[in-house]
Amino acid sequence: MKKVSAVLLGAGARGLIYSRYALEKPDEFEIAAVAEPDQSRRENFASLHHLPPDRVFNDWKDLLALPKMADAALVCTMDQMHTQPALKALELGYHVLLEKPMAPDEDECRMIASAADRSGKVLTVCHVLRYSPFFQAVKKCIEDGMVGKIIAYDQTENVGYWHQAHSFVRGNWSNSERSTPMILQKCCHDTDIISWLIGQKCTMVSSYGKLSHFTSDNAPEGAPDYCLDGCPHEDSCIYYAPKFYLEHPKVKSDGFAEMVVTDPTAERITEALRKGPYGRCVYRCGNDVVDHQVVSMEFEDGAVASLTMCAFTQECKRTLHIMGTAGELWGDMESNEIRVRTLGGEERVISVTKPETRYSYNHDGGDYCLIRDFVSAVRLDDPALNRSSASQSLQSHLICFAAEKARLLHCGVSPM
Ligand SMILES: NC(=O)c1ccc[n+]([C@@H]2O[C@H](COP(=O)([O-])OP(=O)(O)OC[C@H]3O[C@@H](n4cnc5c(N)ncnc54)[C@H](O)[C@@H]3O)[C@@H](O)[C@H]2O)c1
Repeated sequence: MKKVSAVLLGAGARGLIYSRYALEKPDEFEIAAVAEPDQSRRENFASLHHLPPDRVFNDWKDLLALPKMADAALVCTMDQMHTQPALKALELGYHVLLEKPMAPDEDECRMIASAADRSGKVLTVCHVLRYSPFFQAVKKCIEDGMVGKIIAYDQTENVGYWHQAHSFVRGNWSNSERSTPMILQKCCHDTDIISWLIGQKCTMVSSYGKLSHFTSDNAPEGAPDYCLDGCPHEDSCIYYAPKFYLEHPKVKSDGFAEMVVTDPTAERITEALRKGPYGRCVYRCGNDVVDHQVVSMEFEDGAVASLTMCAFTQECKRTLHIMGTAGELWGDMESNEIRVRTLGGEERVISVTKPETRYSYNHDGGDYCLIRDFVSAVRLDDPALNRSSASQSLQSHLICFAAEKARLLHCGVSPM
């Protein structure tokens, strides 16, 4: 079996996850070089993957200024830094794994899609949910005709109050100009799944939502800018940073502390919270992305879908209800359970099993399956094996751009 090699651009949280596949399957996949400006991330990564000094770079531009040195490039930089490295990597002849959102605006998304089509290379957009065993099983139910023709579809993106606070209030995605609007950032996965399952073009979108809770108006009396500056609400506030990062079970199991500081110990985390972004009062972060939004969609054949994204949930999961001419389907991605009932008929429960892996990947196995399938498509040099190409992923992004326009204008907007 030919071993596939890749260069990693951006050794942050996502870059580390996909690169685990090289540690898990060293006979199939290897990381040949890395570009990462953060010194400790760069050094840790280089040591983990045994990279020689001439294969370690501070910036993606330095790495891609050299002739092609691997089969693929993994573009895992932040939202605003996807287009240029993706285009340059294609130009050099790399296959590309591109984190979502593809790009922060419509023109750049279209540019990436046409460059990928012209290149003949595999360009996989990281719509990891498509690859998850859960959504693969939902897709199979639809293809097997278990619900007939889809007429209406409701999906809820339960963000989780703790996930919202970490990522979209204190963290990387709190500001829509520095990253992207919440509906694109968080929900391009949802619009991708909805349009993939319905299998039609979306023709009209409307949307409402706002930032209601995480604002300075809602700061409890006397709350300082940083929790550790003697907040009087330390015992009652669920977002009190030291308790949040050191004790919250989901915050701990999802590795959020590692985003606060590399190599986290209780002392290092506490120190980083004193004046760092993750130590701020959640009501005083100057964030602007919404904490709830609904999107209504109409598709070419008249099917309709609604998506609700909301921060104020205990769990971080997707739930869905699909109504078709022959039956209904309910899904819960946390319990990995799908329930199907034919109209006037029987009910069937399907329990989905996640892949067994040595390392921890996210999205219920979606991350693992995506990188596994990407490596395989690259090895066979076959873009037809790609399940989330740039052109297949474009519609989900266009729906999000239209939804954001509609939310700001308070009207229905066509994504066409
Ligand atoms: N597919 C998914 O489900 C999913 C989930 C979370 C995040 N994401 C997306 O993945 C991307 C990365 O997110 P993340 O959580 O890993 O963020 P991150 O901040 O942890 O990682 C980004 C890395 O890029 C590095 N970087 C910055 N400038 C660079 C440069 N010039 N050259 C090379 N590297 C540079 C940063 O130092 C950082 O380490 C984002 O676009 C995000 O929206 C996707």
